[in-house]
Amino acid sequence: MLRPYGIPCIALARRAPPRIVAFRGSIWPVRKTGGGVTAYRFPDSNVFYRKLGRSYPRIVRGEGCWLYDEQGKDYLDAVGGAYVANLGHSNPDVADALARQAREFGYLSATAFTHGPVEELARELAASLPGDLDKLYFLSSGSEAVEAALKLARQYWVEAGKPGKHRIIALAPSYHGNTLLALSASAREQYKLPFREWLVDVTRIPASYAYRCECRGADAACPTCSGTALEAAIRRAGADTVAAFIAEPVGGSSTGASTPRPEYFRTIREICDRYQVLFVADEILCGAGRTGTWWAVDQYGATPDLMTMGKGISGGYAPLSAVAAPERIVDVIAQGSGSFLHAQTFSFHPVACAAGLAAVRLLKRDRLVERCARLGRVLHERLAALTRLPHVGDVRGRGLLAGIEFVEDKTSRAPFPRAARFAEAFTEAALQAGLVVWPNVGHADGVSGDLVVVAPPFIITEQEIDQIVTRFTTAHTAAVSAVNAGAR
Ligand SMILES: Cc1ncc(COP(=O)(O)O)c(C=O)c1O
Repeated sequence: MLRPYGIPCIALARRAPPRIVAFRGSIWPVRKTGGGVTAYRFPDSNVFYRKLGRSYPRIVRGEGCWLYDEQGKDYLDAVGGAYVANLGHSNPDVADALARQAREFGYLSATAFTHGPVEELARELAASLPGDLDKLYFLSSGSEAVEAALKLARQYWVEAGKPGKHRIIALAPSYHGNTLLALSASAREQYKLPFREWLVDVTRIPASYAYRCECRGADAACPTCSGTALEAAIRRAGADTVAAFIAEPVGGSSTGASTPRPEYFRTIREICDRYQVLFVADEILCGAGRTGTWWAVDQYGATPDLMTMGKGISGGYAPLSAVAAPERIVDVIAQGSGSFLHAQTFSFHPVACAAGLAAVRLLKRDRLVERCARLGRVLHERLAALTRLPHVGDVRGRGLLAGIEFVEDKTSRAPFPRAARFAEAFTEAALQAGLVVWPNVGHADGVSGDLVVVAPPFIITEQEIDQIVTRFTTAHTAAVSAVNAGAR
């Protein structure tokens, strides 16, 4: 259980708005209503929280890799919130860039105007992108970028005179977002169940996931680990119906930072070329330097046809995502209908682009991608010690992206039963121990499977990496006790 924040309070809807007051000598203010301190939980606040059954610590300050709540408790943010805060918290350069842009102009419609931040950000990102990817379409969230990339693939084929090509092929497990097309592309049954009738059919092939493959990633002829499963799927569906194949170059939450074999994406590229299928690399989580190169796909020597990016490209200082495309694809639309059918009010947002520009320039100026590669080696060396813990089955990943998979039995790799909710228990125990990690469940067989991912800011130090290991070990002991207590 989380430390309760204040006294859980009663009737809410008819209450006067809470006011900010000092709290028992604490330097951080807390909300107070009608004499009682309100907990940050449903239904005590007006916020419709993401999790309706827990209390939320209220963060009042962030600095580097650390967050501080109103009680003064510190949290080592080992996952940049949600793989986002790559530059750490409270970066003054990005803060100044946002403020400067807001003072010049906050919003303008991208249908009527262009502006400095979007032009310069596109140029900076294009210089980092592989192959011929050099046109950038900016949106706000990762889900929007995936939605847009898949729609762009479809519109491209329609305007290229191949309207039969509509089918999407994606991996299982995988996650590409929560809007309906992005959710359709995701293999997350628990998220999809109530919306099943609204989702489109997506063809699945198994994701490269060495820890749970029979060959453990060692067999170059394994259809899953080599990528040749894609060819079989395209042939079954009929190549003239397949528009796109979407995959993360390094697995994010869904396979806990699993890294495909070195030849995987070259094989994917060849298959996509052979059958005229667009390869969409989803780099929303693993891109922007996270795996030690600007883009995770760089390490595979393959260029996708379309790429999505988000999360870390603004360091989290503004919601910002993008689709990258080559001129050869955009030109088909330029010569055809004349515009991509995916306009959104907040696309190309000046303040968001200013944040992105400042973040990308900082990554370049301070050589933070190189630092990510260097500190990534330290992270993996230190995290290897966790495999000694009784329920850590595997530690894997690349750069400052690491997945730690929990199992009930290390020899058989049997996961905990889902009812034990191990990943959830671990994540709450970690928060208690002052460590922020990202959990995932269901990857072992669609229902069971518990892992957490760490992906700290690129500015993390070796001492802070040691802190991750120490706090992780404490949380592991607490989670095992909590799960055992629940089973009794
Ligand atoms: C690989 C991947 N694609 C897409 C998304 C969707 O991004 P967002 O949550 O910003 O909509 C996510 C989010 O975690 C992701 O990890």
